Amino acid sequence: MKKIEIAQFGGSETLQLVDAPIPTPTGTQLLVKVAAAGVNFLDIYQRQGAPIYGITPPYTPGLEGAGVVEAVGSDVTAFTVGDRVAWTMALGSYAEYLIVEQAKVVSVPQGLDLVEVAAFMLQGLTGHYLTYSTYDIKPGDIALVHAAAGGTGSLLAQIILLKGGIVIGTTSSDAKEANVRALGVQHVIRYDRENFLDEVKKITDGRGVDVVYDGVGAKTFDQSLLCLKPRGMMVLFGAASGAVPPFELMRLNAAGSLFITRPTLAHHVGDAAEFAMRSKAIFDLLLQGKLSVRIDKRYPLADAHKAHDDLASGKTSGKLILVP
Ligand SMILES: NC(=O)c1ccc[n+]([C@@H]2O[C@H](COP(=O)([O-])OP(=O)(O)OC[C@H]3O[C@@H](n4cnc5c(N)ncnc54)[C@H](OP(=O)(O)O)[C@@H]3O)[C@@H](O)[C@H]2O)c1
Repeated sequence: MKKIEIAQFGGSETLQLVDAPIPTPTGTQLLVKVAAAGVNFLDIYQRQGAPIYGITPPYTPGLEGAGVVEAVGSDVTAFTVGDRVAWTMALGSYAEYLIVEQAKVVSVPQGLDLVEVAAFMLQGLTGHYLTYSTYDIKPGDIALVHAAAGGTGSLLAQIILLKGGIVIGTTSSDAKEANVRALGVQHVIRYDRENFLDEVKKITDGRGVDVVYDGVGAKTFDQSLLCLKPRGMMVLFGAASGAVPPFELMRLNAAGSLFITRPTLAHHVGDAAEFAMRSKAIFDLLLQGKLSVRIDKRYPLADAHKAHDDLASGKTSGKLILVP
């Protein structure tokens, strides 16, 4: 089979297509033929070698995807050959075949397309936990969502709207602005040419927002804090523009007794029941046509390096996927 391998951390040139034997599942493992694998910013952070992820090269990147069970280990009880499954937080997805623990996959309901589901798992589940667990959006809440045209941002914005929240979305080009407006987002700020803090103050009559969802990081963090109402919630969930430097806690006091958190998906799907609950919730929304995922671009495995460069460039709008 073909797979991508990273022999040492570094730039996108480290993503090399290699040949490998098709592995055999043992115990509670499944062998899955990958229909599509999603590309995420997290794959880039891992490729760059951030120690927090605990990865040692050589490794095959990619944390999400969907496909069909090809073989099962002797202790597998929940799945059988031919089942359609999806996963997230399972390293090795940039490949024609993946070995994955049965506890890390969910069944894909009839009526959902495997490629669409692959494009949706990590970011859809992220949108779910950020809006139900990190900060439980209530009707009328005003949320500032940065990079609202992005893969995660666009799903996050849709779920907030479904929960009755009001979204102020930021983005940086005419085409992306059109994509954000098409989601039904009430207020769009062009932070490439407008000061988003000033605009948020205007939109909220000086009150500030209830919650900020910031996956952009270094570029937006300081002003994001100032967009919050007193006792508002700052959710820093990524670093697309770079990591936020060490933070002085007294700033939360000065800015209005704010709350801050830096959550990650792994801690919200690690328990099998929780993973199943969140997956069912987002699959139901997809089946009901209430959520949509915009696939910006599909790449063959061999072009994984191009997918990383495109995502890192900040020019994409929606999801990038690899189709083996
Ligand atoms: N914590 C979690 O559980 C979790 C889970 C999934 C994703 N995330 C985070 O969510 C963020 C978005 O991830 P994604 O995969 O969905 O990507 P994405 O939003 O599709 O792409 C990133 C977007 O960020 C904006 N951006 C602003 N400054 C940038 C810069 N200097 N370089 C690149 N992009 C820049 C761009 O949108 P504009 O042109 O509109 O500014 C760009 O399109 C990332 O920080 C990621 O780590 C976190």
